[in-house]
Amino acid sequence: MQYPFTRKRRLRVSQSIRNLAQEHTIDVNDLIWPVFILDGFNRTETIESMPGVERVSVDVLLERLVPLHQKGLNAIALFPVINEQYKTDDAAEAWNQEGLVQKAIKTIKSTLPELAVITDVALDPYTSHGQDGIINEKGDILNDVTIKALVMQALSHAKAGADVVAPSDMMDGRVSAIRAALEDKKHHNTLILSYAAKYASVFYGPFRDAVGSAANLGKSAKDTYQMNPANALEAIDEIAMDIDEGADMVMIKPGMPYLDIIKTAKDHFNVPICAYQVSGEYAMIQSAIDNGYLDEQKAIMEALLCFKRAGTDAILTYYADRVTAWLSQ
Ligand code: PBG
Repeated sequence: MQYPFTRKRRLRVSQSIRNLAQEHTIDVNDLIWPVFILDGFNRTETIESMPGVERVSVDVLLERLVPLHQKGLNAIALFPVINEQYKTDDAAEAWNQEGLVQKAIKTIKSTLPELAVITDVALDPYTSHGQDGIINEKGDILNDVTIKALVMQALSHAKAGADVVAPSDMMDGRVSAIRAALEDKKHHNTLILSYAAKYASVFYGPFRDAVGSAANLGKSAKDTYQMNPANALEAIDEIAMDIDEGADMVMIKPGMPYLDIIKTAKDHFNVPICAYQVSGEYAMIQSAIDNGYLDEQKAIMEALLCFKRAGTDAILTYYADRVTAWLSQ
């Protein structure tokens, strides 16, 4: 490759040549929209640490989803805001068949049957202490006890009609337990999207405000189950185990600070790789946009394109609504 016979700039000489040479694109089919749901009717609430994102009741969500789904949005991920009175040490509300998530799945699927509904399998919205699992008197998270609760939660979602259950709790062995229970109850086509490489990240802070688990969690951390941000090789083991246990798709989380992990996952495994542009990433980008430091559309599209370049098949992003609208223009 010698100058002047090779001039790499020839491939950038005009928009049309740049378009032809482009390796990756963002498409509406790449997007999953995470949404925060409230009980009740006709409710919207702003989230201080996530300007531009709202918690909404399911009727309001549906009003927003209908036009987005028409424009091609394929999937949403539901995150419930659970009233304090329903939070307990054993998180029993998590598998209440008449609970907020279970009812929301039914309502959404009956209105928009083709929209894929992904549900979060983890106990943190439901525990009085804000941990993803059940704890003993010392505060240790009990792996195998938690798995039993997660199985009941996942089954209640599948029964309500969820297309995909997504365990985000990072307990060992939960994917095989959920898969066995789904098979046993004849939910053969319910997918498992496992949060396989989920790091103990500070970038989840705004999410915990959004679902109202921050105060419950207090100063406690999730370091005994979520991964150490300093580790990369460990992610390969985590992902391999979840695929062996029956995960159909795997998730890397957070996203942009962990693009190396996404790339490694893509190089090692053949299942679809999802990545989560988490609440803290949203908060950083959105604050810069709101301050006029970054161009909104360009910043968001570039960030999402980087996920694709790294090898992501589907991206969970709080920008999915905006991006769907832009792509359809
Ligand atoms: C909890 C859960 C979290 C997120 C998704 N599911 C937070 C946590 O693990 O504390 C974070 C999403 C985000 O930050 O946008 N199981």
